[in-house]
Amino acid sequence: MPADNPTCAKGNNLKHICIIMDGNGRWAKKRFMPRFAGHKAGLGALRKIVSSCVEQDLDVLTIFAFSSENWRRPKKEVNLLMELFATALTREVKKLHENNIQLRIIGDLSAFSDKIRGLISDALALTEDNSGLTLNVAANYGGRWDITQATRQIAQKVQNGRLHSQDITEVTIEEHLSLKHLPEPDLFIRTGGEKRISNFILWQLAYCEFYFTDVLWPDFNQEIFQDAVDSFHSRQRRFGRTGEQLTHDQ
Ligand code: IPE
Ligand code: IPE
Ligand code: MG
Repeated sequence: MPADNPTCAKGNNLKHICIIMDGNGRWAKKRFMPRFAGHKAGLGALRKIVSSCVEQDLDVLTIFAFSSENWRRPKKEVNLLMELFATALTREVKKLHENNIQLRIIGDLSAFSDKIRGLISDALALTEDNSGLTLNVAANYGGRWDITQATRQIAQKVQNGRLHSQDITEVTIEEHLSLKHLPEPDLFIRTGGEKRISNFILWQLAYCEFYFTDVLWPDFNQEIFQDAVDSFHSRQRRFGRTGEQLTHDQ
């Protein structure tokens, strides 16, 4: 197989999974509970999936916790989500550290309170040397924001004379995005029945495999996770080539 082909026909290489954890509100509504109860239950589902990723020796898990558009929600829900974020940063980080997980937060952090930013920097410092799973939490993240901030950094380098515009390649752009130096997502999972990207990672989803389920995020469990992983392994990733080329090159 030519060296530039990142796949093989027998079992795809699964290094990076990204998840839109959707359906918390509807889960709570079905139980006549406030939406916030769904968000709390969602944190429980996340714990289980992080454990599964560690067990499966996955390199990277990226989860969408709060989008740049989620500020449009009622103020009360936003405030409760911020409290939950702060609680999770306080209570969960020790466990992540014990499991050799490196935590990263991607998104525009300038919008968060001083308290949350302080908790984030403590959590990052505690886990930065860990060599197991990299857990990216997308918070106040938007795929368009990410491409915009990368463009701004590149423009600055051109302006300072550190980069020539004709030297800008796809690699230059990748190196300025939030997920730089990490393998691209191989598998995208969205729960909650919607079939859209909702401004999650945009650039790196170019050749990602998609898995959608109607299951609401708080009900997501290891079995459905395994189904998504099995579905991924059953697919042939062609990256523009023909199926015959891949089986022949084996
Ligand atoms: C996802 O669940 C969590 C966040 C966006 C923070 P939702 O809150 O969007 O749940 P639904 O889609 O309303 O059911
Ligand atoms: C996407 O879910 C964001 C997160 C899960 C954090 P939304 O519920 O905000 O997406 P839309 O609004 O239905 O597209
Ligand atoms: Mg939703």
